[in-house]
Amino acid sequence: MSRLEVFAEDGTKLSETTEGGKIAGALAEIGVTFERWPTRALVADADSDAILAAYAPEVERLKANGGYRSIDAVSVVPDHPDRATMRTKFLSEHTHSENEVRFFVRGEGLFTLHTADRVWNVLCCEGDLMSVPAGMAHWFDMGAAPNFTAIRMFVNHDGWVAAFTGSDIAERFPRYEPV
Ligand SMILES: [Fe+2]
Repeated sequence: MSRLEVFAEDGTKLSETTEGGKIAGALAEIGVTFERWPTRALVADADSDAILAAYAPEVERLKANGGYRSIDAVSVVPDHPDRATMRTKFLSEHTHSENEVRFFVRGEGLFTLHTADRVWNVLCCEGDLMSVPAGMAHWFDMGAAPNFTAIRMFVNHDGWVAAFTGSDIAERFPRYEPV
């Protein structure tokens, strides 16, 4: 189940909710888009084209609003040979020069956002769309046995790189814990 936990920078937990509307409302206040989309039935081995076709109405709406030119679907399974490297890649605080847009078709992952004096853990599950604004400090944990399929949207896929802040703050907050 999707969940938002809000912490002070010293690690004190201030609030927690699993209600989609409350998660969306709280995140909207810091400029983050969170939506719950109705999920579509897909065969287990659906390829990228089938996944993008299934969510075409929502994808087209975001694409029109955000100017996204490159859209794909990525899938990670728990026994992926590069899972440890993949997990480490975005586990430290970083920013991007464009929005980080992810829709979880299947599975889950933990986004953590860092604003002025708050840390926001957003557990994203099947049916959740997150858009982290360009420039916002954040990190992402897919866990030790990553298991998700996500639609990604980019304005410029080739230029989509992480700029690490050098902060170790991510190590002081809860990581992804599969339920
Ligand atoms: Fe990121």
